[in-house]
Amino acid sequence: MLKIGNIEMKNQVVLAPMAGICNSAFRLTVKEFGAGLVCAEMISDKGIVLKNAKTMNMLYIDERENPLSLQIFGGEKDTLVEAAKFVDKNTNADIIDINMGCPVPKITKCDAGAKWLLDPDKIYEMVSAVVDNVDKPVTVKMRMGWDEEHIYAVKNAQAVERAGGSAVSLHGRTRVQLYEGQANWDIIREVKQSINIPLIGNGDVQSPQDAKRMLEETGCDGVMIGRAALGNPWMIYRTVQYLESGELIDEPSVREKIAVCILHLDRLIALKGEYVAVREMRKHAAWYLKGIKGNAKARNAVNLCNTRDELVNLLNELVLEQEAKELSQAQLV
Ligand SMILES: Cc1cc2nc3c(=O)[nH]c(=O)nc-3n(C[C@H](O)[C@H](O)[C@H](O)COP(=O)(O)O)c2cc1C
Repeated sequence: MLKIGNIEMKNQVVLAPMAGICNSAFRLTVKEFGAGLVCAEMISDKGIVLKNAKTMNMLYIDERENPLSLQIFGGEKDTLVEAAKFVDKNTNADIIDINMGCPVPKITKCDAGAKWLLDPDKIYEMVSAVVDNVDKPVTVKMRMGWDEEHIYAVKNAQAVERAGGSAVSLHGRTRVQLYEGQANWDIIREVKQSINIPLIGNGDVQSPQDAKRMLEETGCDGVMIGRAALGNPWMIYRTVQYLESGELIDEPSVREKIAVCILHLDRLIALKGEYVAVREMRKHAAWYLKGIKGNAKARNAVNLCNTRDELVNLLNELVLEQEAKELSQAQLV
């Protein structure tokens, strides 16, 4: 079982932190599909320290989401520690995670995110400072290295452990790779064998069977799923079920997909108001529609929706169209 500090997860399936995606509306929806742990999108340490209004809103957690890991990023010790202390005392997050994987230049040029991967001593120093100042367990999410010439995953994970970190999540790609190529699971096994704190494996888990294979091949303690859960919280549910019973549950029907998409939309509206929520929901709606045959027209139309009513009507029409198609196909057989 996956246990981080004194927090026990009910299973080994973890929703990855994803910027612009993993707000309370999406996390709660995924949680209801059985995730053992959900991770929030990365939040700027400076935004927290300066009490930036948008950043403060990002700290909102619905109590039904717990256990939850809240991720902060930064490049300087003072602000990172201040932000961690704020999260520790003022939010109901269970775990404080530090981002050491973000490859985006805007972040790495501030010595944050993946930039840390080049310096295990800095990792030790920064993580120690955070651990010493908070009560909640502190974890780190990292990539395996900066580039092929600088793969310090083992040293970096050991530095986290020595510093008092409670777990590591490892994405098996370098910073330079971004999302290209295939995630390297061998390094996940290697790191697992070199530390005594839990390791969560991450990268290219696209199906429940992949999740099982990652756990078996690497010995990792938890499996983190990112892109495969976009518009697809069933991926989480199906993985939990598969790991527990070996049973592979059917993919959802179009009607089920749309019902959850609308639930997600309504939660996003409650969180951000209709104007922002509908615009943010366009990308999610396109993901929910993925895999539905003949959806190209609907995916384009989604991008023109400005109100909840427009979006919901469009989605409901799609359900009726799809069901009519299925019926006529069934009658032909
Ligand atoms: C849109 C998007 C946003 C992401 N934002 C974050 C983030 O805020 N913090 C983080 O540690 N990783 C972030 N990641 C990386 C994911 O957590 C994960 O490591 C990566 O997608 C690989 O896992 P996957 O193959 O299951 O998608 C992001 C990935 C995507 C696709």
